[in-house]
Amino acid sequence: MGFAEIVSRRFSTRGFDGRPVEAESLGKILEAGRLAPTAKNLQPQHVFVLQSAEALAKVNTLTRSIYGASTVLLICFDRDECWTNPAKPGFPAGYVDCSIVMTHMMLQAEELGVASCWVGSFLPDELSKEFELPDNLVPVALMPLGYAASGVGPSERHFSRKPLCETVKYL
Ligand SMILES: Cc1cc2nc3c(=O)[nH]c(=O)nc-3n(C[C@H](O)[C@H](O)[C@H](O)COP(=O)(O)O)c2cc1C
Repeated sequence: MGFAEIVSRRFSTRGFDGRPVEAESLGKILEAGRLAPTAKNLQPQHVFVLQSAEALAKVNTLTRSIYGASTVLLICFDRDECWTNPAKPGFPAGYVDCSIVMTHMMLQAEELGVASCWVGSFLPDELSKEFELPDNLVPVALMPLGYAASGVGPSERHFSRKPLCETVKYL
């Protein structure tokens, strides 16, 4: 599958059949995240793989957006390790870094036939408390991974993309 096909096939999967992601596929997905660019190459990301019954039960109390997945990635950055542009104090690059890491992983997953969803609907403080994260780790997003349950496809919203002329300007 070429890159353009990977990008166009991906959609937010909101219903998984619960089958686990094979260790080999998961390894490739995590490796794609490892190779992502980060500001000053500081690699402040910390990726937690939630697979135990206990971790999954916990994460399901924090968001309604796990959708039955049995593998969930929790992506955080270390605020002490990430870069902050002096011109933008208060905006640590860790959020951008983690977003790139996640995008790499999401697209690698798609290439392997593993479905995913980007999940931002949780309270970071609540999540940090439940998973007893150290103060320096900032949770950015969750990513359920797995295989779409039967009948689950893209949402209507998936097909609504603005034309390039609305988002791109040649100067
Ligand atoms: C930053 C961010 C946060 C998101 N949070 C959620 C979420 O909490 N729950 C959910 O079901 N989808 C979430 N999504 C998925 C978007 O709703 C989805 O990407 C968008 O509607 C386009 O649909 P598509 O991914 O199927 O193309 C999030 C996406 C992004 C980029």
